[in-house]
Amino acid sequence: MDKIVIEGGIPLKGEVVISGAKNAALPILAATILAPGVHELYSVPPLADIRTAGRLLGSLGIKFPQGPPGRSGTPGSSGQDAPLLVDSSGLEGFEAPYELVKTMRAAVLVLGPLVARQRRARVSLPGGCAIGARPINLHLKGLEAMGVKITLREGYVEADARRLNGADIYFDTITVTGTENLMMAAVLAKGTTVIKNAAMEPEVGDLARFLTAMGAQIEGIDTDVLTIHGVKELKPASYIIMADRIEAGTYMAAAAITKGEVTLLNAPMPHLTAIMGKFTEAGVRLSAEPGRITLQPGGALHGVDVRTLPYPGFPTDMQAQFMALMSLARGASVITETIFENRFMHVSELVRMGADITVSGNHAIVRGKKTLQGAPVMATDLRASASLVVAGLAAQGLTEIHRVYHLDRGYANLVEKFSGLGARIQRMPE
Ligand code: EPZ
Repeated sequence: MDKIVIEGGIPLKGEVVISGAKNAALPILAATILAPGVHELYSVPPLADIRTAGRLLGSLGIKFPQGPPGRSGTPGSSGQDAPLLVDSSGLEGFEAPYELVKTMRAAVLVLGPLVARQRRARVSLPGGCAIGARPINLHLKGLEAMGVKITLREGYVEADARRLNGADIYFDTITVTGTENLMMAAVLAKGTTVIKNAAMEPEVGDLARFLTAMGAQIEGIDTDVLTIHGVKELKPASYIIMADRIEAGTYMAAAAITKGEVTLLNAPMPHLTAIMGKFTEAGVRLSAEPGRITLQPGGALHGVDVRTLPYPGFPTDMQAQFMALMSLARGASVITETIFENRFMHVSELVRMGADITVSGNHAIVRGKKTLQGAPVMATDLRASASLVVAGLAAQGLTEIHRVYHLDRGYANLVEKFSGLGARIQRMPE
């Protein structure tokens, strides 16, 4: 296992290019199951989760090259380079084994496409995870409404979809991958499916646009009511995956906390309204033009309250990184997590760096300090690890972040990108 060592206190300077969105690439890769042939995907980020998805698709007879990140035609080559070619003509089988699903719960995204294409699926139930129980009951309830017979056996979901009919589905909790799974089941179902209270996250819209490029008929994209008219078959498609709004927000937090001057290139502006709004409210000076956001050192940061909400609200995936920023703001900030029941694992690590944070229920009260001190800290989940990097970049002295494999899941070339901004950061074996 590796660790990342950061010498904090250096204002970041320069430009950073935002990569393709992990949470758009994962459902889009799963969707290649829906149509035999060669799909051309651009801006697939070079992440551990993408490699895991590659292993899962490989076990289903679908191949794509897993060369070194960035080599043309492999995950990480940018929109201009050769696309990632995903050949799904050899699809066989319908299983997603436990050993793959336990390392990446987003593997459940093959459930909908397998049900649609193979008319059956055997997918391991994802276990819990650091941030919460994260059941998939709503995914299963929606499939049953479409006529799929669901059996839970030995920790697996067994789905029999000899009948797959359109249905009216209402999600009483907004679920991102639940919406994605049901949309992928519905595109090849008989008749029309209406999904109400659908997730409106931009990544859901990106999947819908990819499915449309394959020939699916979907109305209401980017709204909370999706109407999907089932079609007989779909064709492989070519698609450029959207930029990652959470990676962008993470680099914004790092620029702001170090009082640096940083320009983000390829930033997905329309999806950053809530994030940019909160940064501006906290006193961060930022200017934006299409695809570029520049943060400049401005006045002192002050504490602002934030509640995580489904899109277009402030994203839960930015909660930990924003908390790190608030730990050095003047005054207090109340951070309320409304999506997951246990997403404050980063608090105790930030407190070890000198932050003043008290948790009460789903609220964290942050009282800003003048400085943080570098310390050895432990990463527990993807975004908690990102918040420790953000804090370490501003802390006095050395911060050692252990178990950085969490970071590899969601941040492409993190050490290289921060080094390019002048950070003193390096990765080494534990
Ligand atoms: C997606 O997870 C993202 N992952 C998460 O990003 C993100 O935090 C989350 O959406 C919320 O935006 C991917 O897209 C791969 P949910 P997902 O279903 O779909 C409850 C990251 O850091 N729920 O929208 O699993 C659930 O417990 C990751 O990149 C049910 O109760 O999240 C949670 O409290 C972390 N039953 C809430 O809904 C269900 O059947 C929202 O979960 C489904 C969900």
